[in-house]
Amino acid sequence: MGMLHGKRILLIVAGGIAAFKSLELIRRLRERGASVRCVLTDAGARFVTPLSLQALSEDRVYSDMFSLTDESEMGHIQLSRDADLLVVAPATANILARMAGGMADDLAATVLLATDKPVLAAPAMNVRMWTHAATAANVETLKKRGVTFVGPNDGAMACNEHGPGRMSEPEEIVAAIESMLAAGRPPLERPLAGKRALVTSGPTREAIDPVRYISNHSSGKQGHAIAAALSHLGAEVTLVSGPVAVADPPGVRTVHVDSADQMLAACLGAGAIDVAVCAAAVADWKMAKPFSAKIKKKPGAQPPALALEPNPDILATLSKSGAGRPALVVGFAAETENLVANAIDKRKGKGCDWILANDVSPAAGTFGGERNTVHLISATGVEDWPTLAKDEVAGRLAARIALHLARPRSAEAAE
Ligand code: PMT
Repeated sequence: MGMLHGKRILLIVAGGIAAFKSLELIRRLRERGASVRCVLTDAGARFVTPLSLQALSEDRVYSDMFSLTDESEMGHIQLSRDADLLVVAPATANILARMAGGMADDLAATVLLATDKPVLAAPAMNVRMWTHAATAANVETLKKRGVTFVGPNDGAMACNEHGPGRMSEPEEIVAAIESMLAAGRPPLERPLAGKRALVTSGPTREAIDPVRYISNHSSGKQGHAIAAALSHLGAEVTLVSGPVAVADPPGVRTVHVDSADQMLAACLGAGAIDVAVCAAAVADWKMAKPFSAKIKKKPGAQPPALALEPNPDILATLSKSGAGRPALVVGFAAETENLVANAIDKRKGKGCDWILANDVSPAAGTFGGERNTVHLISATGVEDWPTLAKDEVAGRLAARIALHLARPRSAEAAE
């Protein structure tokens, strides 16, 4: 039975490009047993059709405040009375302003003004609109009145700008809804507050001599996005990063290392942690004895033989059972063939709880690229995720982690 079984969500869809994610949100909520009824604003109807919302929610969609049919069948007060929670997604600058101003100029605003139910808003707008003093003041006002916010996330936006303003991923919104309804108290905007996370990211460099090294093409984009997403949900995050060109995520303690040995030492030095995510592409081997001086190329001489030895396995070390083991250890499996089968074996071999299998063959473009197609493998099964931007993978993973850590032990066993 889904965690939201029997819960009634009134979803208000306002006019933003992120409205397409609300379709996925309806799916996710219904999968978890909630019923969803939608209110669509005029602007929202420019981005998604009433028919799509109706098909996914299997309920009629309400738009018109002055519809005699609507009012006779379901008055606007009744719409909010019949819900356990009102969710505004996307919450545009416009609807936030109307909420803050107490306007009742369309059905969505009227329902929001008339309700005595908790309200969750998932903002989505251009970065400048989000950072504008007017929006900041409206958000502040709404927070003071008890409206809860999830997001927005940082990232590339449809308007070709970058920064905060992207609507949270459906999984993140579901996590916020679940934490709110589960406890019968206001949702935690930061469900990982009080939790400590450790993330590894990027490649390692194993010295051959003072100027040459063994490494790989990992850019750190995936690991850094995961660190940012966990921090966004309130976790205190230590990111241990190999040499990368991407910037340190704001609000995250970042430790820079070169080699696998250094990465392991930094991980072990991070102190007690609740969740570890190993996204780094750690070199499996290092030089048994790195040359202390630059290897000279002598005319006619054979190339030097490079004797290698295995590096410590950081993921396996963190997964070892014992008093200090994190409650959840997550690895990645980088595979070029037999992706899921190899990853299932790797999860068992390394002893981690979850592993995210991703295809790293050059054609997939995962190493260094912007997108990733992962399969989440746990003890109980394999979940195929669609191809997503790396920050979307990160958002989904962070939301899953938050849900997992919030669950009682008995639910974990059944997961
Ligand atoms: O950095 P990007 O360009 O964004 O690319 C992301 C990524 C492809 C690097 C990332 O998504 C990914 O797959 N990371 C794991 C890469 C890897 O080394 O996979 P593996 O199958 O060899 O290792 C399995 C797991 O063991 C990984 O969690 C790895 O971090 C860990 N490991 C491996 C060896 C080792 N000595 N120590 C480890 O902790």
